[in-house]
Amino acid sequence: MVYLIFISIISYILGSIPFALVVCLPFGVDPRKEGSKNPGATNVARLLGKKWGFITFLGDASKGVLALLIASFLSSKTPYSQELILSLAGFFAVLGHLFSVFLGFKGGKGVATTIGVFLFLAPKAILVSLLTFLAGVALTGFVSVGSLLATFFLPINLFIFNYSTEYIICATFLGILIWYKHKENIKRLLRGEEKSWKKEKHG
Ligand code: G3P
Repeated sequence: MVYLIFISIISYILGSIPFALVVCLPFGVDPRKEGSKNPGATNVARLLGKKWGFITFLGDASKGVLALLIASFLSSKTPYSQELILSLAGFFAVLGHLFSVFLGFKGGKGVATTIGVFLFLAPKAILVSLLTFLAGVALTGFVSVGSLLATFFLPINLFIFNYSTEYIICATFLGILIWYKHKENIKRLLRGEEKSWKKEKHG
């Protein structure tokens, strides 16, 4: 039990590192106050350009992978299954991104960190979700639509590819949280006010 708590806390703290701020603050830009006001890769791309958005994406995805690498190392020391330990670590890493201890329990929308986590856990399922993401963005022009579709289909993809129940439960809870974090995007989409990716300004 002590290991479970330890792994959850380490993963949460790692997930809390806000790479959008790490990238933006040296430019004097605060992604929480500009653009969509979201400390995430899409908003960094919007404010500083695609290169910095991609660097933010890599940072946010990597912290998910790192949490799982640490959990994978520690899992041999626990009586619990590897699937349970890794799901827990992945969940808490994304939770850290969503409700960061460094940002007063506010945070981003969790998509990049979820991609990092499931690239490690279930590469086949996340690749299908990534294709869904790209199709959603290409067809509608909205990054948020790609994110919502990809996270909706992730648990289904995991089920189809026969991944463990723990991973499916983890992806389902993360999907609910990610949709919750997209509530303003959903409202804007319904009002026809969401900004198209193609029309966004790059620095
Ligand atoms: O992954 C985040 C994306 O779905 C939406 O980002 O900045 O347009 O709210 P943003």
